[in-house]
Amino acid sequence: MKRLIDITELSLQEIERLLHRAEDIIARPAAYAHACEGKKLATLFFEPSTRTRLSFEAAMYELGGHVLSMADAGSSSAAKGESVADTAKTVSCYADIIAMRHPKEGAPLVAALNATVPVINAGDGGHNHPTQTLADLLTIYLEKGRLSNLTVGFCGDLKFGRTVHSLINALARYVGIRFVLISPTELKLPSYVKKDVIQKNNLDYTQTTELEAVLPELDILYMTRVQRERFFNEEDYLRLKDSYILTPEKMKLARPDCSVLHPLPRVNEISVAIDDDPRACYFKQVFNGKIMRMALILEMLEVQV
Ligand code: CP
Repeated sequence: MKRLIDITELSLQEIERLLHRAEDIIARPAAYAHACEGKKLATLFFEPSTRTRLSFEAAMYELGGHVLSMADAGSSSAAKGESVADTAKTVSCYADIIAMRHPKEGAPLVAALNATVPVINAGDGGHNHPTQTLADLLTIYLEKGRLSNLTVGFCGDLKFGRTVHSLINALARYVGIRFVLISPTELKLPSYVKKDVIQKNNLDYTQTTELEAVLPELDILYMTRVQRERFFNEEDYLRLKDSYILTPEKMKLARPDCSVLHPLPRVNEISVAIDDDPRACYFKQVFNGKIMRMALILEMLEVQV
């Protein structure tokens, strides 16, 4: 596998293989401790990150490999005007695989087209975040035992939330998926996702501004942060940021087996009082992110274990 820029580049069989590999890594971590000895992962993050960057780095260390990274984008030659293409060609001379996060949509694709080693999109602008989707899929699979026949609610910033776009693209290929899209009117799912993915495939969906009205129907509730960094003005952000706040009171409306996911970071949209609710799965997602990135690195480097 030369690159992972968009989740649709993975077939359902490849996703299934990654999920099974992840289960094996969880069951037998010691069997993987030396799998990537002598290999190097470069993490090129031109936007802030806690989970994605550290989980990629932890994943490579747990596979016995090494990590090359920059303290921040400002300390790389991008600050002097170096192009993404030249950066990718350069880092290919030092590393066996690259994970890149960039504020510009399409930047990891440019990197992949110019690198001589595999490139993974670790989030590009408001576009895609395929490795978060792999973490989300593993979480849903472990919680529900399936990725089909589910009613999945997405709530919050569906316009700029790249994790939402990627997960809808992934789930759209499984049977019996129903989407419930919950957002303020200004933060609705972009038409390129709604029309090209949901409507084009005749998938069942509902669009609403009311979380409470649909909460009892959901197998999965995927909460998202309003993406301040993608807004053009602060006033709009301040007006919309607290559109939805999940509280223990609202969780009384949810099914006893409803799984609450969130890619994190959380700001205000899930009350911390829900963290101890057995339905809260967002810190399991964090752990699963590391495991799926281990599985992905093995696959992309074609390492046999
Ligand atoms: N979920 C996610 O992408 O988190 P970070 O921004 O902390 O990497």
